[in-house]
Amino acid sequence: MLRVQNLVKKYQAQVGEPVGGVFDVSFEVKQGELFTLLGPSGCGKTTTLRSIAGLETPDSGQITLAGQAIFDSAAEQMIPMYDRDIGMVFQSYAIWPHMSVFENAAYPLRVSRKVRYSREDLQSRVEHVLNMVGLVKYKNRSATQLSGGQQQRLALARALVREPKLLLLDEPLSNLDAQLREQMRAELKRIQSEWGVTTIYVTHDQAEAMAISDRVAVMDQGKLVQLGPPDDIYELPRSEFVAGFIGRTNLFKGTLKTSASAGGKSIVESNIGSIQCHFPTQSQAGQPVSFVIRPENVILQTISGAQEQNAIEGRVTSRIYLGEIAEFAIDLDGGHQLLVRAPPGNGIKAGDRIRAYLPPDKTIAIFS
Ligand SMILES: Nc1ncnc2c1ncn2[C@@H]1O[C@H](COP(=O)(O)OP(=O)(O)O)[C@@H](O)[C@H]1O
Ligand SMILES: [Mg+2]
Repeated sequence: MLRVQNLVKKYQAQVGEPVGGVFDVSFEVKQGELFTLLGPSGCGKTTTLRSIAGLETPDSGQITLAGQAIFDSAAEQMIPMYDRDIGMVFQSYAIWPHMSVFENAAYPLRVSRKVRYSREDLQSRVEHVLNMVGLVKYKNRSATQLSGGQQQRLALARALVREPKLLLLDEPLSNLDAQLREQMRAELKRIQSEWGVTTIYVTHDQAEAMAISDRVAVMDQGKLVQLGPPDDIYELPRSEFVAGFIGRTNLFKGTLKTSASAGGKSIVESNIGSIQCHFPTQSQAGQPVSFVIRPENVILQTISGAQEQNAIEGRVTSRIYLGEIAEFAIDLDGGHQLLVRAPPGNGIKAGDRIRAYLPPDKTIAIFS
């Protein structure tokens, strides 16, 4: 549905600051998909979105929507924003306070240059979309009488009422409090999939991205660094940046002992010993390699019998009870730290000597 190729948009830097923007970003979004751009503040998410919307003129690249080139630097083509068939919602709701809920949602139809809607048609389209976002009973109220969550749903209704080919959402929930945000993201996902609209969602919140996305593109410093389904991004990070940004992780450095095939296992000589790791990509012996393991994937054992492969001994320095899970800080013999999350009922407490087992399937080699 959407193809972004080699998108570049550079901003003039202030003295002493690095150049901002996006540098050579490419991705495709499928029909009906909820695709998320995820990354820290300043990584280029909004710039990418504004370029797609037509609010920015990129320096170079191509953007194709439903087969039509809406931007092409080589062909010097730039379709104006209002001809792009795209709906948008931003962080600030931009609801018109002097209009009713109904009139806010109806506005894009009233100003349409392409179609003149009959009274009945307009009425039924607006009611349909207000019904979808759960606001039809408030249609005659002033928009200012709505709560924050309701205003954001109205902004969504307004973005959808023309049935755009593409919906762009830029941190739409970040002005809401934590509880409402979680509720709204579930609802947003429901509306998006029921409406079937192809959507690009922008957020810096990894939990939000994991919860709602079909696929996630992680951005860092103006570049797209990893793209895949949420599980893959979480389970198989390709870099230290992605591993650290998406959830918490343990990272150790080492060298690859024997070459590894893609999807295979091989031993890394590391600062915590010889550890067998999973290699998502093919790798040469002798290469510097790091590996990561999530705190919930480490298995804590009491020390008994002979030392096994991938098990390191150490001492529990703290146990923090978090309800459904407990967090253990381990001082490994040799001086490195390990963070482990395990069921609180495992009987292990601060001061205990333990063995930490790193399952090879969950111990992921990365290169950065
Ligand atoms: N209009 C602008 N003028 C100058 N620099 C900008 C402008 N817009 C964005 N930038 C810079 O480009 C980078 C990416 O910004 P942005 O796309 O807004 O990031 P994000 O949405 O991921 O937080 C930042 O370093 C930002 O300072
Ligand atoms: Mg932004």
